[in-house]
Amino acid sequence: MANGPAVGIHDLSFATTEFVLAHTALAEHNGTEIGKYHVGIGQRSMSVPAADEDIVTLGAAAAAPLVARHGSDGIRTVIFATESSIDQAKSAGVYVHSLIGLPSAVRVVELKQACYGATAALQFAIGLVRRDPAQRVLVIASDVSKYDLDSPGEATQGAAAVALLVAADPQLVRIEEPSGVFTADVMDFWRPNYREAALVDGQESITAYLQAVEGSWKDYTEQGGRSLGEFAAFCYHQPFTKMAYKAHRHLLNYNGHDTDAAEVTRAIGHTTAYNNVIGNSYTASVYLALASLLDHADDLTGQAIGFLSYGSGSVAEFFAGTVVAGYRAHLRTQAHREAIDRRTSLDIARYRDLHERSFPTDGGDHPTQAQTTGPFRLAALRDHKRIYETR
Ligand code: CAA
Repeated sequence: MANGPAVGIHDLSFATTEFVLAHTALAEHNGTEIGKYHVGIGQRSMSVPAADEDIVTLGAAAAAPLVARHGSDGIRTVIFATESSIDQAKSAGVYVHSLIGLPSAVRVVELKQACYGATAALQFAIGLVRRDPAQRVLVIASDVSKYDLDSPGEATQGAAAVALLVAADPQLVRIEEPSGVFTADVMDFWRPNYREAALVDGQESITAYLQAVEGSWKDYTEQGGRSLGEFAAFCYHQPFTKMAYKAHRHLLNYNGHDTDAAEVTRAIGHTTAYNNVIGNSYTASVYLALASLLDHADDLTGQAIGFLSYGSGSVAEFFAGTVVAGYRAHLRTQAHREAIDRRTSLDIARYRDLHERSFPTDGGDHPTQAQTTGPFRLAALRDHKRIYETR
């Protein structure tokens, strides 16, 4: 263990979109038996961004409550993790920095490695706080997951942002050393620069994920990590919630344990409530699993939680956290429920229309329709520049 104070997640807040599409509506449209969605992949609905929402507005909406509660003192770094980036040069975090009113004495950067990016951000943030425990790092994971209409991936879309304040002596979860890490050059899921929707080899991506679970766990144990039985719960990256069940059964099998259904549910049941109704939020997904666990489980004080972060391509990391005494007083359970409940249902025609929208690339003045009731909106694309405003 490193010397110095414990470092970890001091506060966590998430935001999601204005709209929601129920899987019943998608199933009715494409003739799929609803059991495939509700049971087969474990999804009930997906968050759909309004025309004036994107990773910046979601990221700012997730981060603003952290700054409102803690102020900006000590925040000298913002790390924005995403795989649905809006610009090849400028970090989406710079727009967020301005929207939430952070001071100029801050460094801002964007990180990418598919859905794994936010975990790299968390680990880099921990390193910075260890170097100077007076500093705090704002980590924002924000993504819009988009596949082609009528493709198998369509049912696993979603969108959300999670903001984490990383600090010494954290109020929620202390992040432990060591970590188990794993990289393999595979083409299971990718998005070339000229495409808005991701490309995926669905079955290959599930196999690649399970191999990464094995690889990162193996490295975690070789680095002297905890044994499987010590964990009260496991937060997995959830491209669809059934994947967490597949992954956990795989981990149990790999360790020669029984895959008793009740035991699997005990370990991950509380982690899926938000992802089940939000859909895949890529970088944010594993931290939505944490939010769901903390908001729904009985008192976890002093318990160890396992995290498995997977990003296609692929990079994975297994690490552990310990829940801090008194954490419940700092949760945002009510705000999280409201973020989900406030969404407006779309019919299939409106959803498909929003899915197919994109900005013209002519550099003209293209205002967006005012749709979001969230705190920030993308007002226009003008001269190739994205114009944001606070509502
Ligand atoms: N009732 C209950 N279950 C049913 C059913 C019914 N009526 N009909 C089908 N099912 C079950 C199937 O048996 C299957 O379950 P198992 O996997 O446990 O066998 C499940 O529903 C899905 O059925 P299919 O495999 O036939 O579905 P599909 O061909 O439409 O593809 C998918 C599913 C591969 C997940 C597809 O949605 C996809 O490509 N999604 C995007 C890729 C993805 O999410 N990959 C995950 C790993 S990669 C990653 O994690 C990174 C990331 O975020 C993208």
